[in-house]
Amino acid sequence: MSEDQIIKTRRRKMKGIILAGGTATRLFPMTATTSKQLLPVYDRQMIFYPLNTLIKAGIKNILVIVAPEHSGQFLNLLGSLLKKHDIHITFEVQSAPRGLAEALTLGENHIGDDNVALILGDNIFEDDFAKQIKEFRSGGHIFAKKVSDPQRFGVVKFNKENRAMEIVEKPQQWISDYAVTGLYLFDNECVELAKKIKPSERGEVEITDVNKAYLKKKQLEVTIFEGEWLDAGTPDSLLQASLIVKEKGISQNFHPILDQAITEFNEELKSLSKKKLK
Ligand code: TTP
Repeated sequence: MSEDQIIKTRRRKMKGIILAGGTATRLFPMTATTSKQLLPVYDRQMIFYPLNTLIKAGIKNILVIVAPEHSGQFLNLLGSLLKKHDIHITFEVQSAPRGLAEALTLGENHIGDDNVALILGDNIFEDDFAKQIKEFRSGGHIFAKKVSDPQRFGVVKFNKENRAMEIVEKPQQWISDYAVTGLYLFDNECVELAKKIKPSERGEVEITDVNKAYLKKKQLEVTIFEGEWLDAGTPDSLLQASLIVKEKGISQNFHPILDQAITEFNEELKSLSKKKLK
């Protein structure tokens, strides 16, 4: 059996990528001094929520894509946080926000021969998608939620059998109420697909184009979910996210490993600040 055949027959692992770059202009001036994903959502930094989604699904290798000016802050927070639990967090600098699909090319070495769960660093999900992530084998898999303002999002239209038919970015005319949310599962082919994508009119390589490529091949699964989906990108949605996280106890329901690691990190910070005072 050739090396290629061996790779094809073994079960591919799932790697994780969190997109925590971007410019966060809608959150200026708060993001003039720090990254959006390091702002608090209720009682912990925003990045911990997508990290929790990946850890709950058993993912052990996670790449965090960061903007150059914030790389040190992310390293301080996450660099050693989960090492002793055998969860490896690495970083890749995205020199400019050239679009979400760039995560797949920047993450080419990280993905290697495996599949990938890509999640936006400012998306918070109440639901646990561990089952879909663990059972994923091939093609693409996206997660859609009914919204009242579909014109703001990438939207997916279904046929009578509930199969995805069409994806349209920010539709001018109504096609569906189902927004494509910020969690995407892709098989290994996504890297090659992403390499072929040309920047859109707004100058970004769009993740919608990766989804469309899988849709064209009839390989795109969609899970519709009902739990909270919070996209904390504006002052109002950031406030709303904190209120909902508190009300629904979302941060109280983290994976025990992550929860413990955050507690230990806090304790360490406290004892360090006490030492400085002496
Ligand atoms: P957006 O909210 O679309 O962009 P942004 O965070 O730069 O904010 P704004 O529109 O207010 O200027 O990004 C969604 C997520 O993806 C967010 O967590 C940032 C991240 N991102 C990257 O990591 N790289 C990119 O090239 C882009 C466009 C976004």
